[in-house]
Amino acid sequence: RTVYVNGEYLPENEAKISIFDRGFLMADGIYEVTSVLDGKLIDFAGHAARLERSANELDLALPVDMDELIEIHRKLVELNGIEEGMVYLQVTRGAPADRDFAFPDPDEVPSSIVLFTQNKPGLAESPAAKTGIKVISIEDVRWGRRDIKTVQLLYPSMGKMMAKKAGVDDAWMVEEGKVTEGTSNNAYIVKNGTIITRHLGNEILAGITRNAVLRFAQEAQMKVEERSFTIDEAKDADEAFVTSASTFVMPVVEIDGAQIGEGTPGPVAKRLREIYLEESR
Ligand code: PDD
Repeated sequence: RTVYVNGEYLPENEAKISIFDRGFLMADGIYEVTSVLDGKLIDFAGHAARLERSANELDLALPVDMDELIEIHRKLVELNGIEEGMVYLQVTRGAPADRDFAFPDPDEVPSSIVLFTQNKPGLAESPAAKTGIKVISIEDVRWGRRDIKTVQLLYPSMGKMMAKKAGVDDAWMVEEGKVTEGTSNNAYIVKNGTIITRHLGNEILAGITRNAVLRFAQEAQMKVEERSFTIDEAKDADEAFVTSASTFVMPVVEIDGAQIGEGTPGPVAKRLREIYLEESR
């Protein structure tokens, strides 16, 4: 695989980052995941805009401009022959000589940028989308700026492991009795035809897929309510699903052992997945 590191395209085993990089030492960095279908980037503009926002919120200098960024994405997709898969992009606050909590001067320590691809043949035809996934609920103990897409992913990883241990696929996180989001996706329920998903704020990531799916839902005359909901409300819903760049629209058929609807992917989730795949290709 060919990867991109700080201006160079290299075989992955030749790519290097300093052990002092603040991304490594302090999780001081941001990232984006852009999916690829039919060799084309999905929603790149949205991911680029969110990257700029994350960088601004953290006073982190982006080492490339948006034209270069799309060029690097396209080149990696081409060099690695990706038809279905994703491009991972990470920007960290570079390598200071000494470990220090204060940010280094960006003129002295440039940010590091790394991109790589992951090939995932069959991504659009995912078998999980046909059966739906099962989730458990866990307490959301992440920091208070989940709107920034940082590489600080330890708790979401622990959540995934808790789900695995419970014999299910993923976890929905709950704060003050309300669902925030999934470990790496936005969470939705459907009740009497209305799609309900948490409103944006510091508590969740503003998913690029969420934005597209809500737009497609409204265009298809479906009703959308952006508000928080409880696990009890979710258990009582007709349908549930999650969205992300890596799963598109993924039906959820069980929450904390309670079957949702018929226990199979519901019509709204199925239709939204179809529309999403069709419209974004
Ligand atoms: N995760 N919420 C969280 C906490 C996420 O990590 C993600 C994405 C989303 C959905 O955002 P989007 O639709 O822009 O992918 C919501 C990516 C895919 C990941 O970490 O792999």
